Amino acid sequence: MKILVLGSGAREHAIILSLLSEDHDHEVIAAPGNAGIERDVRCLSFDINDPVATANVAIDEAVDLVVIGPEAPLVAGVADELREQGIPVFGPGKAAAQLEGSKTFAKRVMDAAGVPTGRAQRATTLADVEEALDAFGAPYVVKADGLAAGKGVIVTPDRDAALDHARTYLTSGSVLVEEFLEGQEVSLFLLSDGHRVLPLSPAQDFKRLADGDEGPNTGGMGAYSPLPWLDETFGTEDEFVDEVIRTVAQPVVTQLAEEQTPFIGLLYAGLILTDKRETPTDRGIRVIEFNARFGDPETQVVLPRLATPLSQLLMNAATGTLDESDRPQFGLTTAVTVVLASENYPATPVTGRPITGLDSALEVEGVHIAHAATTDAEGTLIASGGRVLNVVALGTTFTEARARAYEAIDRIGLEGAQFRTDIAKRAADAEG
Ligand code: AMP
Ligand code: GLY
Repeated sequence: MKILVLGSGAREHAIILSLLSEDHDHEVIAAPGNAGIERDVRCLSFDINDPVATANVAIDEAVDLVVIGPEAPLVAGVADELREQGIPVFGPGKAAAQLEGSKTFAKRVMDAAGVPTGRAQRATTLADVEEALDAFGAPYVVKADGLAAGKGVIVTPDRDAALDHARTYLTSGSVLVEEFLEGQEVSLFLLSDGHRVLPLSPAQDFKRLADGDEGPNTGGMGAYSPLPWLDETFGTEDEFVDEVIRTVAQPVVTQLAEEQTPFIGLLYAGLILTDKRETPTDRGIRVIEFNARFGDPETQVVLPRLATPLSQLLMNAATGTLDESDRPQFGLTTAVTVVLASENYPATPVTGRPITGLDSALEVEGVHIAHAATTDAEGTLIASGGRVLNVVALGTTFTEARARAYEAIDRIGLEGAQFRTDIAKRAADAEG
């Protein structure tokens, strides 16, 4: 199979590594990629947010499948043009991608499909925001309605900070004020062919910049999978996953199909598990957000554990032929990823600095590296953005995977680099 992967982050690198690890001779190409991806596959340079340009490349290259990594090309309608041209594509069209692109759209679909989520109020003026903040009470949750590259959400006990955040985003649209939900977060990825859904294994992301969940929200500073503590509440991972399919994923996919905007691609359910139960059958699962693509950095820990060939799952989703018998299988390994970020990320990351020590880091058993923002400057690897790379470590236990990840990250040099030291710490501590 010849597969074109669109995007330039560690998520796309993880997808590519997973495709290359299969027992098949796939030809994988990428656009635009990064320095790490370039070491593994041929990279092309064109505007991946331009539907016609992308379709032309897919035709010229005679690719069998296009996999769209980030949200921007989805919202720009790249998948629609590819489908129009008869090219199988993993990624929803513009209309269904509004599930991620517009929080108001997502709330409407959830309401229509009866999906459990926090109460929310849309506001277009500061006075509306104030009223909603006071109605829900502290801590306050304010979200920009449109795409905001992970910066659109504030969760704060400080009413003035919540108002300032709202003021910023009201200049360009509306905001959503939400009820604060307390509990553990879970990222669950579901493959959809427009009608049926199949689950991947759950992961947990670390959104805040600093240890102990302090500091600003980021794109994600680390992740681990699976989530052993889910078993305490749900018995097994499969029971949890089936409950999410029954109450969240299938209703949403069915709703979008009925609206003639089928969701073909990856439905990312961002969930909070709350103790506040509303009915005897309520198991506390609440949606905090949907994304229309694989999550970053969760993909980096989910895909290395996947035993089923990824290419077949993506192709079956793209061609409307997912089947319950394809249910993805996962290995018993644990996976931990730690993100290495540039100085001053997420505000104004310092870029252009050299990265050293990768070869030494790769010598640590069970470790590989997914590149995010790296470029090659005449043989020197340079950090070119906020989240620079992900160290990914596999192990038989979280204690082992964590030790490997941190051993490897200590071998990497980047002036001013930041990383969290508590990724998967609780999961490891629970192992005793
Ligand atoms: P989002 O971009 O919607 O995933 O929000 C970013 C982060 O803000 C989430 O991962 C949560 O940690 C937090 N968050 C979002 N919505 C809520 C909510 N209603 N209650 C509590 N925390 C939230
Ligand atoms: N890890 C959060 C996201 O991909 O949106």
